Amino acid sequence: MEVIILKNATEVAERSARIVCDTVNKKPNTVLGLATGSTPVAMYKEMINANKEGKVSFKQMRTFNLDEYVGLDPSHHQSYRTFMNENLFNDIDIDIDNTQVPPGNLENPMEAGPYYEDLIAKAGGIDLQILGIGTNGHIGFNEPTSSLASRTRVKTLTETTVKDNSRFFKEGEFQPTLSITMGIKTILETKRVLLLATGKNKAKAIADAIEGPMAGRCPASALQMHEHTTFIIDEDAASQLEMKEYYKYVLGFQDNLIDKFGDSRGV
Ligand code: GLP
Repeated sequence: MEVIILKNATEVAERSARIVCDTVNKKPNTVLGLATGSTPVAMYKEMINANKEGKVSFKQMRTFNLDEYVGLDPSHHQSYRTFMNENLFNDIDIDIDNTQVPPGNLENPMEAGPYYEDLIAKAGGIDLQILGIGTNGHIGFNEPTSSLASRTRVKTLTETTVKDNSRFFKEGEFQPTLSITMGIKTILETKRVLLLATGKNKAKAIADAIEGPMAGRCPASALQMHEHTTFIIDEDAASQLEMKEYYKYVLGFQDNLIDKFGDSRGV
């Protein structure tokens, strides 16, 4: 795994947006996996700016979001579909028909998983997946003790996650406790992962993910089995990493090698 430790959230947004834009410039019909939450919003702003300045076009890009709440209509102001429209899709030149979010409003939510897996397969798989991380180590809505071989399915949220996300809901407003989320295996099958984390409240989850044992207790630790994952994190989120200095040291060598010989690892 690559661990890129940067000064602050702004640098995390700039660096990750640069990787996304470079990927799309190389392969205009990139299949991009997207995440919600507050962390990637600054990266989305960078992507919007790059698009407006003509540095990249998203016209051919296709996207798959990680997760959605069960029981909210896509037009609901707290649905992840609305979140994506408002924070990215409405402000870039993407064809909205090329954007997918798991259907959270099916009469039978159990049908959503196989349906979504099929859509991803038909698109040829995900080239680059953006992830955030929950304070409990979840990725998407794969809560602790999720099967490391799970696929897109209905997942019950933990109390911690419901509490963490309650800030987005008005008092007394219905807040879903069920979600549809890509599974851990679905995520492990993507070609490249960028996991973004900022702030001290993510430090324990990041340390468990990178340096802890691989275990369902910290779903993000499953990324230790992923072929090409890059953690892009700020100093605060890196503050509990034991081998922090080593990661910085490695990066110097790696950047030099890539400058000289290019990156042969695909996307
Ligand atoms: C939600 C999302 C995750 C996201 C996490 C962290 O629960 N399902 O995909 O990574 O929140 O969110 P934030 O970036 O707001 O801390």
